[in-house]
Order: sequence, then structure tokens, then C-alpha cells
Amino acid sequence: MNTIIIGSQWGDEGKGKMIDFLTETADVVARGQGGNNAGHTVIANGKKYILHLVPSGILWPGKLCVIGNGVVLDPIGLVEEINTLRDQGVTITPENLMISDRAHVVLPFHREMDAAQESSLGKKAIGTTKRGIGPTYADKARRIGIRMIDMVDPEFFVEKLRTRCEMANVELEKMGVEPLNVDEQIKTVCEAADVLRPHIGNTIPVMHEAVTAGKSILFEGAQGAFLDVDFGTYPFVTSSNTSSAGACTGTGIPPHKIDNIIGVCKAYTTRVGAGPFVTESEELSDHLHGMGREFGATTGRARRCGWSDGILLRFSAMFNGFNEMAMTNLDGYDQCPEIRICVGYDLNGEILEYPPARVDQWEQCKPVYETMPGWLQDISECRTWSEIPENAKKFVARMSELIGCPITTVGVGPDREQTIQVEA
Ligand code: GDP
Ligand code: IMO
Ligand code: MG
Repeated sequence: MNTIIIGSQWGDEGKGKMIDFLTETADVVARGQGGNNAGHTVIANGKKYILHLVPSGILWPGKLCVIGNGVVLDPIGLVEEINTLRDQGVTITPENLMISDRAHVVLPFHREMDAAQESSLGKKAIGTTKRGIGPTYADKARRIGIRMIDMVDPEFFVEKLRTRCEMANVELEKMGVEPLNVDEQIKTVCEAADVLRPHIGNTIPVMHEAVTAGKSILFEGAQGAFLDVDFGTYPFVTSSNTSSAGACTGTGIPPHKIDNIIGVCKAYTTRVGAGPFVTESEELSDHLHGMGREFGATTGRARRCGWSDGILLRFSAMFNGFNEMAMTNLDGYDQCPEIRICVGYDLNGEILEYPPARVDQWEQCKPVYETMPGWLQDISECRTWSEIPENAKKFVARMSELIGCPITTVGVGPDREQTIQVEA
């Protein structure tokens, strides 16, 4: 059984928690896009782990984790992450963490370019994570990128690095930024390369052998559907295909080998960074932040919060092909007397069923809400569907109807144990 897990909104839906939950029955967990702009929180056995590049499956022993070809990988960041996880008692070896030889490398100057581009945009800044993601994918598309395979031969790697870093200094100067020390960049990247080298290989046959042997693969999506460079709130997006198709191009497993596509959504909606957000609500943001929730795992930024958005999720289900949806953070609504659900986008009097392509029009859309009564009860202790209050069940049923696919699990808290199977 090969399953893709996709964030269905703007990221931070609780993908890490769902991956961790589903890894128990999987053999391989693979990332196919994005980089360490991702921050996936998993709380297991009372311990909190934050994963950026390492697939969340690493917390289970005996599982193979793969960083696929579609990922952009910051070697310095990855070594730091591996060290942090090891300090927390997680075992990471070349046997359980394999990195695609075709993945592209994020270099220090990419981060510098990301920050410079953001500051040059002023008020129109995207609000990136400044992890160098956009500039690295740009290098890939410009066909000047450096890939993990280049790291395998140290001398060849140094030569390649020097040429690219020198060229980058010219680009940085054009951007009005101080050039970076080339030797310093080479030194730090090569130190990280020494640690990562044993993990690098051709991951494609390894994954295909797993498929042929009848093993189960989980494809761990990063970011969310509306940060997709094609389907999202362009240009307020990331630079990869975060939607389900990205899992195939990002790992080399073809579409016909995929059995199930699960969307993960929050019961409400959040986004970090700039861009349209039709159901955004200051009142709900204050409420959730007041509960100590919704601060980013990667940058610590307070997330923007808004009401449930049926228009967004229905479109997401369409272009991702969700067979089912996992809804996390249902407990976020515990103290809300009334819940708002967006059922239409009003663009200057015209009611839209799907978000518009033009970002300025998307910004102008006003939500058409229906309201449902809340349950005003702490549901974090619930462990079975029968314990969930009737009004919460009705909310889940209505969202399922709007999205057009069944909601099969709900989250009532951040812990592994706080995941409940929905019963019909
Ligand atoms: P990801 O990037 O999609 O993996 O999500 P993040 O880890 O960035 O953000 C999700 C946040 O919600 C994290 O703090 C999780 O611990 C938390 N979380 C996930 N599911 C639930 C849930 O059902 N209830 C509560 N209260 N928190 C949850
Ligand atoms: P996970 O996997 C939420 C957002 C940034 C910014 C935009 C572009 O934890 O859900 P980038 O650095 O990618 O060029 O920034 O995308 N962004 C995320 N938002 N969750 C993420 O990952 C994100 N990764 C990038 O905030 O708006
Ligand atoms: Mg996150």
C-alpha cells in the first residue's frame, strides 16, 4: 500500500503527526519536495521532535527513510538536524536514512540571495523562511545546480563549489549584497558533505525494490497545497510542487503505483507568510494564540489564523485527488460557541465556487459563511469516536460534504495517542 500524505491548506496542518501515526504500518517513508523550510512536529512518548529535512518516519525503528531527488537539501542544516535528533536518542545511520544522489544542494549563498530578494520586495515580500529554497530551485531550473552526486568525489565537489560560489558572488554584488567568502563556504559545506556522503545513493531502485517486494511506502508531503508553485496563491507560494503529483516526480515512483492519497487539514485554517487568506480572522488568531497555539515550528512566527474554508479544501481535494482527509486540531474549536465555515467566495458580488487564479482578485474575495454551533467542551481526552460531542460530529460531517471526500481521522491533541478514527 503506497500512500501520499499532503498538506491541504498552507502548511503546518499536522502532517508530521499523521505521518508518525501511519508509519507504524509502513516500511519506507520518503520526502519528495521542499527542503528545511518545512517544520514537522511530532510528539511521541511525551517527547517533542521537530523535523525539517529528515522524514518523520525516523522516529520508528526499522523503517527506511528516503530524501528523494525532488528535495533541495541544505547539507549544513541537515547535519545540525541529525545531531539534534541523535542527542534526543534517535538512531540515524546510512541504513535508515538514504539521500538521493539527484537531490539539489542548498548553499550558503542561496540563503543570502533569499534574504536579499525578500528585503528588495519591501512591503510585497513573500515572507519566505529564508532557507534558500527559491534560489536553489531556480538554479535547478536554470540547469546550473549542484547535486548530491557531486559530493561523492571530494575533489570534483570542491571544484564545482568554487566555480558556483564565485559566480554567485557576482550575482550577489548585482543584488547590492556583500559577496561571501568562497573558501569559508567551501570549508563548511565540505565538512557537512563528509558526514552525509555515506547516506548518498540511487534511491530510485531501492524504492522500486520495496514496491516489488510488496512493502508499504509513505510519501511525506511538505508545505501545503496552496503553497504549490502551480496551484497556490502565486506568487505567495514556495518553489516546488507541494501537491500530490510532486511525490512522484520527487521520488521516481510512478503515479500508477500510488494506492491512496490522504489530505491533512486543520479544522480551522492557518498560514505563515504573506498572501491571500479569505477566512482570516483576527478574533480567532487572538483566541488561538491566547491558548499558546499556532507559533511556527521553523521560524517561531505567529501563524495567521482563520475559519474553516470549504472552498479552499474542495479545490485542494480536486487537484490532489484525495481519497480521504485527516482533520487535525479539532480541539482548537473547543472554546468557540459558534464555528464559521466558508461556503463561497464573494468577488465583487459574484459568488465563486473555486479560488480565482489572479492573486489580487483572491485578495478581494469576501467569505460567505454558514455557522454551526460549537461544542464548548474539552475533547482532548477523547480516544474514541463515540466520545466526541454530537456538534463536533456534525461539523466534521458538514466539512466532509463540502470537501467531497470522507474525513477518516480527527486529531484532538498533538500527541500520537490523540488521533481518533471516525466511525460512520
Ligand atoms: P506540519 O508542518 O504539517 O507537520 O505541522 P506543524 O508541526 O508545523 O504544525 C502543527 C502543529 O499542530 C504542531 O504544533 C503539532 O504538534 C500540532 N498538532 C497536530 N495535530 C494536533 C491536534 O490534533 N491537536 C492539537 N492541539 N495540536 C495538534
Ligand atoms: P511545513 O512542511 C508553512 C511558506 C513561507 C512563505 C512561503 C515561501 O512545515 O508545512 P519558502 O521559504 O518556501 O520560499 O517560503 O511558503 N512555507 C511554509 N508555511 N509550513 C511550511 O512547511 C512552509 N514552508 C514554506 O512561510 O510564505
Ligand atoms: Mg510545519
